[in-house]
Parts: sequence; structure tokens; C-alpha cells
Amino acid sequence: MRKTYLITGGAGFIGTNLTERLVQDGHAVIIVDDLSNGKAERVPEGVPLYRLDICKTEPLTALMRGVDVVVHLAALPRVQFSIEHPVEAQRVNVDGTLSVLESARVAGVKRVVYAASSSAYGDHTEMPLKETFTPQPKSPYGLHKYYGEVMMKLWHDIHKLETVSLRFFNVYGPHLDPEGAYALVIGKFLKQRMEGKPMTITGDGLQTRDFTHVFDTVDAIVRATQNEKVGHGEVMNVGAGRNITVNEIARIIGGPVEYIAPRIEPKHTRADNTYINLMLGWQPTIRIEDGITELKKQFKLV
Ligand SMILES: NC(=O)c1ccc[n+]([C@@H]2O[C@H](COP(=O)([O-])OP(=O)(O)OC[C@H]3O[C@@H](n4cnc5c(N)ncnc54)[C@H](O)[C@@H]3O)[C@@H](O)[C@H]2O)c1
Repeated sequence: MRKTYLITGGAGFIGTNLTERLVQDGHAVIIVDDLSNGKAERVPEGVPLYRLDICKTEPLTALMRGVDVVVHLAALPRVQFSIEHPVEAQRVNVDGTLSVLESARVAGVKRVVYAASSSAYGDHTEMPLKETFTPQPKSPYGLHKYYGEVMMKLWHDIHKLETVSLRFFNVYGPHLDPEGAYALVIGKFLKQRMEGKPMTITGDGLQTRDFTHVFDTVDAIVRATQNEKVGHGEVMNVGAGRNITVNEIARIIGGPVEYIAPRIEPKHTRADNTYINLMLGWQPTIRIEDGITELKKQFKLV
């Protein structure tokens, strides 16, 4: 059935991929993005883009009237940024999420699907990471994202607003932003290769990550917006279920490397996808080797 979606942060990396998919599926999409990191030119033609800070609750509420589903992706989503700029990061990630929930409630939106993060887990040593583990965020960003999940559950329990939180693991794929000091590792490596520079690996490169292709992530979001079984504040992992070292990523991309100072980051991440598979029938489909091969073409490295 055709639905009207409002996507916060819809001009960003995951947001533009989601918009393309929803438009393809025949849904109406409205985007709210302040373009602090998003790019207007990446928004598919014909999709209305409202340049607005999500913390501005009144205009946001007005835009949500008549909307069926909100997918809340807008955030300042970088660990290092949140350590260096904790006040601004918290304003957008926490106050912004509150503003989105309140706007959705007042406007009569049926469901809000929230971009949570594996960073809520922090530094657990036991793998794979299960939703039943106690969150122990190790950065302001991880804390903000966890706080958002708790708010999602509360707004369901108190106001009966349908909510779902999806804990994304490291997402990569088309539209990945390779710019800036906070770029995620795959985008950063591809850009360095394109410029003929060595790939800079933080620490010993033995840290592992669960890299998830954005098409798989988008598929999980779409299922979470439509499945009738969920909507009660569930928290679900969305990961490839496989972790590989940063050294291995550099090897798959190919080229010289340089080791630089380590960052504050968890040593390992790997998702247990049992719960989301059970609830939404979702499972990852794209192997990292294939995903990177496609991206290398896009970055003209093959
Ligand atoms: N990419 C990942 O690996 C990953 C992993 C876990 C969780 N997430 C979460 O997924 C979501 C999307 O991430 P992404 O990688 O697409 O990031 P992104 O930076 O590409 O997208 C975020 C978008 O939000 C917009 N935005 C920021 N502040 C805003 C504000 N105050 N008002 C309105 N818009 C604002 C930005 O302009 C940007 O377009 C984020 O919530 C992030 O925390 C991403």
C-alpha cells in the first residue's frame, strides 16, 4: 500500500539510498534535512526537501501532518565529533530526537523508525553482540544513540506511538561520504587511494568491524516501517553478522598503508541478527568483498 514517509536526514548517506528505494516502491517521500552534512543534489528529482533543523519542533510538526511513517536518520553521527563537540552533538542527537518524537505524536504519525547504533554496545568482548547485552557506550555519540532508543520505547509505552529502533553497524555503499576528518573508514580509504595517497590505518588495524551494505540496511528499514508484528519500541541489530579487520579492508581495496595514532573506539563489533531475522525475516545479502568491488568502480579505482 502506498504510504507517505518523512525522512529526517534524508539528504545524507543512508537517507538518499532509502529515498531512492521508497520512490522506486511507489511511496511518497518528504525530506527534512538542514544540509549540515547532506547534499541537496543527491536527493532524487521530485522529492520535496525542506531545509530545517529537526530541533525546530513547530515547523517539523506542521510537516508531519498527513505523514504515515517517519524514519529518523538526522544526527551528527561521528564518534570523534561527539568527543570534540559534545554540546552541539547532544543538541542534535538527543534534543533533536525528542523533537522528532513529539512532532510525530502531535501530528498523529503512525510509526517512527529510528536509526540507532551499534556504538551503544561500547566495548563488549563477547561476540556476537546481542540486543540483550547491557549497553555501555564509550562516547557521547554512543550515549546519545542509546538515549534515543530509550525515548522511542517510552513514547510507545506512554503515548502508543509505534516505534522501532534499528542498531546499524558500520554502513557502507553508494553515496558514502568520503570527505572530512570524520569520514568512515571505507570512504576515507577509497578517497586516499583516488588521490594516490596511502590509506591511514588508526592503531594496529587489528580492530574489527561488522560492515553492512547500505542496500541491506535500507531493506531492514523498509521492513521495520511495514511489518505489523513490530512497533512496540523494539531494538534490533542490523549487521552483516561478520567482522573483518581494518587491515583486511585496506587489503581488499589494495595499495600502500600508513599507521597513525589510535582513536577511542571499540576493539570489535559483530552483530547477532537472530532477533531481526525472527521479527522481520531480514538477513544481509551483500558480501563485503562484492560491496567494495562495486564501490571501487564508482571511485574509478578499477
Ligand atoms: N553510517 C553508519 O555507519 C551508521 C551506523 C550506525 C548508525 N547510523 C545512524 O544512521 C543515521 C544516518 O547516518 P548517515 O551515515 O546517513 O549520516 P549522514 O551524516 O550522511 O546523514 C545525516 C543527515 O542528517 C542531517 N542533519 C544533521 N543534523 C541535522 C539537524 N539538526 N536537522 C536536520 N538534519 C540534520 C545531515 O545534514 C545529514 O544529511 C544517523 O542517525 C546515524 O547515527 C549510521
